[in-house]
Amino acid sequence: MSSYEARFQVWRGDERGGGLEDFTVEVHDGEVVLDIVHRLQATQAPDLAVRWNCKAGKCGSCSAEVNGRPRLLCMTRMSVFDRAETITITPLRAFPVIRDLVTDVGFNYEKAREVPAFVPPPGLGPGEYRMFQEDVDRPQEFRKCIECFLCQNTCHVVRDHEENKRAFAGPRYLMRVAELDMHPLDAAAETGLDRGRTAQDDHGLGYCNITKCCTEVCPEGIKITDNALIPLKERAVDRKYDPLVWLGSKIRRR
Ligand code: SF4
Ligand code: F3S
Ligand code: FES
Repeated sequence: MSSYEARFQVWRGDERGGGLEDFTVEVHDGEVVLDIVHRLQATQAPDLAVRWNCKAGKCGSCSAEVNGRPRLLCMTRMSVFDRAETITITPLRAFPVIRDLVTDVGFNYEKAREVPAFVPPPGLGPGEYRMFQEDVDRPQEFRKCIECFLCQNTCHVVRDHEENKRAFAGPRYLMRVAELDMHPLDAAAETGLDRGRTAQDDHGLGYCNITKCCTEVCPEGIKITDNALIPLKERAVDRKYDPLVWLGSKIRRR
């Protein structure tokens, strides 16, 4: 097994501030960036804070930024970097730092709670639901989400605009609205809940100008923009400009 010495700059600090610290660390064949962070903890910085769990790209815990790009530390191979370059590892930028590489991702849980849950179809019990396979396949892609929040961290609407966080749910939770809106058995409409309208009015769909940065960083390869956000926008607009829907809303207002 061959090894070499690589130079790293790792962000250390907390909510009061911090900065990059230089380290030189041994790298072995086949290692990922999380291995290097663990070696740093074992040899030079025992108090370095990092969040991780599965080391298999499935728990979504180890999200951080490597050379400024949002990535999973456990799925980023050291072999993608030039051996001579200095590699920077910094915490997710869109969320408040707790310590070192660990951020407070509570924003995402708040946004998750704001999306109304699936409404079961009236008159059907568990085990009686029937759906066409194509209706199962469509939202199935979105169920691959590991809640790493890389998309939430990358979207420019909140990345540098803290003030937008109140009104904008972010790609992951707009995708959840899209998933429920596509669900043929969701009975939300029968309770008066128009998911397309809430996407616009309550979850900030209009802030998304389909830059697709969220899709580019998704480690699960989910086509967030093309398969969730654009269809959701189309359906929301269709409903708004559908003459029958318009007439219905006028009659209801009388
Ligand atoms: Fe992560 Fe992709 Fe889920 Fe966003 S949609 S939280 S990038 S897995
Ligand atoms: Fe943001 Fe993705 Fe839309 S990056 S602007 S949510 S396409
Ligand atoms: Fe679980 Fe990286 S440690 S996704």
